[in-house]
Amino acid sequence: MSTAKLILEGRELELPVVVGTENETGIDISSLRAKSMAITLDPGYGNTGACRSAITFIDGEKGILRYRGYPIEELARGARFTEVCYLLIHGHLPSQDELDGFRHLLTYHSMIHEDMKKFFEGYSHSAHPMAILSSMVSALSTYYPITASDADIDLNIIRLLAKAKTIAAFAYKKSIGQPFSYPKNDLSYTANLLHMMFSVPTEQYEVPAVLDDVLNLLLVLHADHEQNCSTSTVRLVGSSDANLFASVAAGICALWGRLHGGANQNVIEMLKMMHDDGGDFRKYLDKAKDSGSGFRLMGFGHRVYKNFDPRATILKEAADKVLSDLHVDDPLLEIAKNLEEAALEDDYFVERKLYPNVDFYSGIIYRAMGIPTDMFTVIFALGRIPGWVAHWKELRQDPDRRIGRPRQIYVGEPQRAFVPMNRR
Ligand code: CMC
Repeated sequence: MSTAKLILEGRELELPVVVGTENETGIDISSLRAKSMAITLDPGYGNTGACRSAITFIDGEKGILRYRGYPIEELARGARFTEVCYLLIHGHLPSQDELDGFRHLLTYHSMIHEDMKKFFEGYSHSAHPMAILSSMVSALSTYYPITASDADIDLNIIRLLAKAKTIAAFAYKKSIGQPFSYPKNDLSYTANLLHMMFSVPTEQYEVPAVLDDVLNLLLVLHADHEQNCSTSTVRLVGSSDANLFASVAAGICALWGRLHGGANQNVIEMLKMMHDDGGDFRKYLDKAKDSGSGFRLMGFGHRVYKNFDPRATILKEAADKVLSDLHVDDPLLEIAKNLEEAALEDDYFVERKLYPNVDFYSGIIYRAMGIPTDMFTVIFALGRIPGWVAHWKELRQDPDRRIGRPRQIYVGEPQRAFVPMNRR
C-alpha cells in the first residue's frame, strides 16, 4: 500500500493512500487527529472524500459521467428511467422479468393513502411545490413502518419512488386549483406523471410520445451525480440512522437551493429578465463578472465539471429537437444560445472553466413541455430519488459507516468570565 507523508510542525506523519477503480487517488486522513491532534480544513468539501462508493463515476476534467459503469450518453440513448432506477439501486441492469416485476410494484404503489390527500388542503395555493414534496415525503414515514428490517426498507423504496410522482403531480394540481388526477395502471412511470399533471376530468388526455420520451431522458440524466450537496445531505442524515423518507426529504430541501437543483428555475427567470430588458444579455454577462454585483449566470459553472457537463451537451441537442417537434418558438432559447456563445468566448468564464451545466438547457425543455417554472426542481428531484436511495442503501451496508460529524476550527472568543448583572 502506498502512503503519503505529511510534515506537521517538524514531525513526519505517514498516511495511507487509497486508489479507486479509475485511479483516483485519496489520502486517508482518518487517523490524522489521533496521530497529531490536527484536523483538515476544507470549506465546501471541495477536496474531501466522505466515502467509498460504487454507484457513479465522474471525471470532471474529461466530462465523463457513468452510472454503475455505463456511460451517460449510452443510457440517455436507450434506457428507460425505471431501468436506470433498478440499475442504480440494485447495481446491475434488470433482466426482463426483474424489470417487469419492478415496474409492476412501482405501478401498484402509485396511489397515496386517501388520508394524505387531506394534507394538501392545508397548504397555501402559492406554496412552492418543493416545500410540498419534501414535507409529504417526510410524512410518508407516518404511514408506513420505518423499521430497520430489509423487507420494510425494500418496500419503502418502492413506495417512495412510486408515490413521489403522485405527490408532485398533486402539488401542481393544488397550485392551479384543479382536481387531482389519479395514476393509471396501464401507463408507464413517465406517462403516468404527465397524465396526473395534465389530464382533466372533462377531456380525454393522450400522453404525447414526444413529452414521454423527453421526460424519460430528463429523469435518466438527473438520476445520480455522486456526492453532490443533496446526496451528501441524504447520506449525512441517513448516517444518524434516520429512516429513508426522512433522509430523502432532507435531500429534497438541499436540492431546492438556487446553487443546486433550484438553478433550473432560476435560469428561466434570468433569461426572462434578459428578454424583458430588450434581450441585452451582454449587460448581464458583465454583471456576472463583477463579484460585487452578487449576480451569477445561473446554469453556468460546476464544482466538478471543468471542461463540459455531458448532461448539458445531451440536453442542448434535445432542446432543439423538442422545440421543433412541439413547434415551440421560444425567444428564450435564442437568448440562451447567444449567452452561451458569448460566455464561452469570454476570458472570465474561460479562465474559471465555467461552462453551461445540466440546469442551463433543462429549463428551456421543461418550459416547452408546458411545465410551470416552479415545478422544474420538482422534476429534478423525481429524477434524483433513485440516486438518493442508492446512496442511502449503500451507506447502510457500508462496514466503515460512522455517523457523519465534521469538525471545525473555532475562531470565536476565547474563554471569558460571565459576570451576573442580576437581570430578570
Ligand atoms: N457566474 C459567474 N461567476 C461564477 C459562476 C457563475 N455562474 N460560477 C462560479 N463563478 C466564479 C466565482 O465567482 C469564482 O470566481 P473568483 O475565483 O473570481 O472568486 C469562481 O467562478 C469559482 O466559483 P466557486 O463559487 O468557487 O465555485 P464552486 O465550485 O464553489 O460553485 C456552483 C459551483 C455551481 C455553485 C457555481 O458555479 C454557481 O453558483 N453556479 C450558478 C448556479 C448553478 O447553475 N447551479 C447548478 C449547478 S449544476 C446542477 C446541480 O448541482 O444541481
